[in-house]
Amino acid sequence: MSKNQVVRKAVMPVAGLGTRFLPATKATPKEMLPVVDKPVIQYVVEEAVAAGLEDILFVTGRAKRALEDHFDFNGELERLLIEKKDEKRLKEVRAASELATIHYARQGTAKGLGHAVLCAKQHVGDEPFAVFLGDEIYPEGSKVLARMFEVLSEFGGSVLLLKKVSKAEVSRYGVAQVKATAQSDVVQVTDLVEKPDANEAPSDLAVMGRYVLSPAIFEILENTKPGRGGEIQLTDAIQVLAQGKGPDSAGLVHGLIYDGVRFDTGDLAGYLETVVEFAANRADVGPEFKSWLKNYVSTL
Ligand code: G1P
Repeated sequence: MSKNQVVRKAVMPVAGLGTRFLPATKATPKEMLPVVDKPVIQYVVEEAVAAGLEDILFVTGRAKRALEDHFDFNGELERLLIEKKDEKRLKEVRAASELATIHYARQGTAKGLGHAVLCAKQHVGDEPFAVFLGDEIYPEGSKVLARMFEVLSEFGGSVLLLKKVSKAEVSRYGVAQVKATAQSDVVQVTDLVEKPDANEAPSDLAVMGRYVLSPAIFEILENTKPGRGGEIQLTDAIQVLAQGKGPDSAGLVHGLIYDGVRFDTGDLAGYLETVVEFAANRADVGPEFKSWLKNYVSTL
């Protein structure tokens, strides 16, 4: 991959069953759960668009129709809002369908994150691409992807987003073994382990849900055997690149160390924290919500 190649495409695996949120996710995709009044996945799509990625591939599965409808045009609703002269809501409804060009690929059976990314092979082709895990939200203006693209243009290959986590948390993530580079917030990733036990983790640097990957990953994923949990793990395929065992053109793997805020809506507690923080920061409902919240907290 040439060092100056620009990333144009985003891949978002959204085929997960969302079992942690049952019964809410029995018929509703977990990506459609609202954070205040916007589905989680829309924040993620907006982040991709803000990073200049307007070609987005959702790797979906069964029961994800609501996701497709959300990013599509809804003539009936728009006509109703036009009749009511509700400009504000009309703008919001249109925004979701005008954000980006969204494509869909079906994962069929859910065989893991690595398998979901492999389903993007045909759409992505032979260019570097970004992967966004749909349950993480980064604050507006955090410029995570922009900085990852800078690292890509400097080092080539693939770029991971790494964040320090506590010892108790390492077993929830892919964890990187790293060595320093001349830049304080960039490391070279030399090895990776998916969800290690706390005492076997090579560091406290966990892989977060934003990746910039060399297309060489597809060839590796095709040969990646099921790993942790019997699933084809993206981490295992990236490890091949990190160890320099990928195709010659693949390049190595670097990590951007991020110490900013990240919202993890992937489990119930994280989701609730995200909703409360976003609600408190809203210009419209925020003041009223915060005054209720302060009062409520004082009763706990
Ligand atoms: C996935 C990856 C893991 C990564 C994590 C980030 O795990 O497999 O390496 O650290 O996302 O959130 P999941 O959360 O899907 O179990």
